[in-house]
Amino acid sequence: MQTIFNTIKEIAFKIDHAIQTEDLGYCDSSNSSGEDQLKLDVKSDYIIEEAFKDVTLVKSLVSEEKEGVLHLHDEGKYTICYDPLDGSSLADVNLSVGSIFGIYEGELIGENLVASAYVVYGPRIELMTAVKGEKPKHYRALDGFFNLVCKEVALNEKGKLNAPGGTQQNWCDYHKSFVDDLFDEGYRLRYSGGMVPDLHQILLKGGGIFSYPGTSDVPHGKLRQLFEVIPFAFIYEQAGGQAINNKGMRLMELIPSHPHDTSPCFFGSNYEINKMKDAYGVKA
Ligand code: AHG
Ligand code: MN
Ligand code: MN
Repeated sequence: MQTIFNTIKEIAFKIDHAIQTEDLGYCDSSNSSGEDQLKLDVKSDYIIEEAFKDVTLVKSLVSEEKEGVLHLHDEGKYTICYDPLDGSSLADVNLSVGSIFGIYEGELIGENLVASAYVVYGPRIELMTAVKGEKPKHYRALDGFFNLVCKEVALNEKGKLNAPGGTQQNWCDYHKSFVDDLFDEGYRLRYSGGMVPDLHQILLKGGGIFSYPGTSDVPHGKLRQLFEVIPFAFIYEQAGGQAINNKGMRLMELIPSHPHDTSPCFFGSNYEINKMKDAYGVKA
């Protein structure tokens, strides 16, 4: 796994360089989810594909920016599902963006995810990695290298931050009440529109909740299971938190039927997720 994490470190510096230097405009194309692609989305995807072409441990790649599965190495053990540049529409307003990697062994289902990682491109480049049975590890880049900042990232039982996604006009009543109740309890709003920096902030500031529910316009939510939802669910669980869907099911139990399937999702520390289960009337 270290080989894969080392490749992700190299990728992070290359994508960061592209963000710093390249055109922030759109291409004429759209991706499998029907979203317009930025030149940076395509470039980041290319950087990742080129980097893993040399890693024989990697059997195949699944990208947010590509329709199907890209086969790489017959002898490979892992499939890496990735979002090359999450929150890319925020690059032109100079907010933080990220890359997300889910590393799966076998069929592409939640329970086969064996490791995950994400990179935040902010004022500094940061990296979080997680493997089974260990707390996530947090790194920060300095002078072309990643230094370990914290070897055991852990969520508190209860936090103070609330990051509610989706179009509020299209929230159902019980979701709206749940979000309002958190604010009534003193929670503070933190939502940049990039799930990587938003979830990163909650993880490092001790806890809270990030939600992207199903809404009347997008009943299955917006965030994609294989390369957004499941990798972050793994990191939150490894940090001692919870990650569930609107039915109270662990996101790690998701079985996508298509690489680009989405799911309603809730990531947080225990207090907030248990409160959400009550609000949604799902079993605690
Ligand atoms: P991407 O840029 O890869 O398409 O993903 C953006 C995602 C995620 O980062 C964020 O939390 C969410 O879209 C924001 O959506 P809204 O603008 O609907 O809040
Ligand atoms: Mn994304
Ligand atoms: Mn993306």
